[in-house]
Amino acid sequence: MPASPVLGAIPEEAETAETLRRVDRTRLPLHVAVIMDGNGRWARARGLERIEGHAAGVEAVRDTVEGAARLGLSALTLFAFSIENWSRPAEEVAVLMELVRKYLRLETDNLVANDIRFWPIGRLHGLPGPVQASLEESVLATAGCRGLRLNVALNYGGRAEIVDAARRIAARALRDGAVPELDELAFGDFLETRGLPDPDLMIRTSGEERLSNFLLFQSAYTEFWSTSTYWPDFRRRDLYEAILAFQGRNRRYGALR
Ligand code: FPP
Repeated sequence: MPASPVLGAIPEEAETAETLRRVDRTRLPLHVAVIMDGNGRWARARGLERIEGHAAGVEAVRDTVEGAARLGLSALTLFAFSIENWSRPAEEVAVLMELVRKYLRLETDNLVANDIRFWPIGRLHGLPGPVQASLEESVLATAGCRGLRLNVALNYGGRAEIVDAARRIAARALRDGAVPELDELAFGDFLETRGLPDPDLMIRTSGEERLSNFLLFQSAYTEFWSTSTYWPDFRRRDLYEAILAFQGRNRRYGALR
């Protein structure tokens, strides 16, 4: 006999709490990045439309963001829509844009309650006007929050970000009549993630092991963790599992250790 929803939920919560207990809170990754993948396959496996996979993925976003904030992470960056994603069918693109708006409409109060600062990254001026307006509203509403910084990458591409940084540097040079002093650290100030540490940990769902043009400059020494779980099934417990795996890694940054 299937467990009732209430009884069925208890072991899962207990397992999440047990996984959380094993996380060393003194050695948390400062910045975690996530490539949310597998929405379409999750839907297909259930005989559903792809867009239903995206809709189910919003619950995974909600739970992961809250779990990250409760754990005390400083920054979480979610890859929600790439520049390449515009080539998907118009209906799917429209649904994804609408889901972002709906998430912000329903969740912004909760972000504030959890002290989460919302920050979209990417070529935002290329997004539909109503999406830009929703993003601005949530940025404003969460501007005073000092806990987790939640970056959501929209119309984002890693190479485009580096090109945009080069353009900003060129514009600054023209304005000032001199190229700004540049090293790797200073170059980071021209990227979308300025002010944030590089991601320590990059998670990708659905079993794929590719960077797919995400945070190319910033992930030079990022630890990669892949799970076969499709994004709509991902929950905070999976985030904690990824962090446990990260805490077991030996990061050498090219040195002998
Ligand atoms: C990849 O799965 C997922 C996306 C392109 C979109 C991710 C968007 C969401 C989870 C919802 C909205 C986001 C927020 C922040 C509220 P896929 O479609 O490429 O899956 P497939 O590889 O199985 O086809």
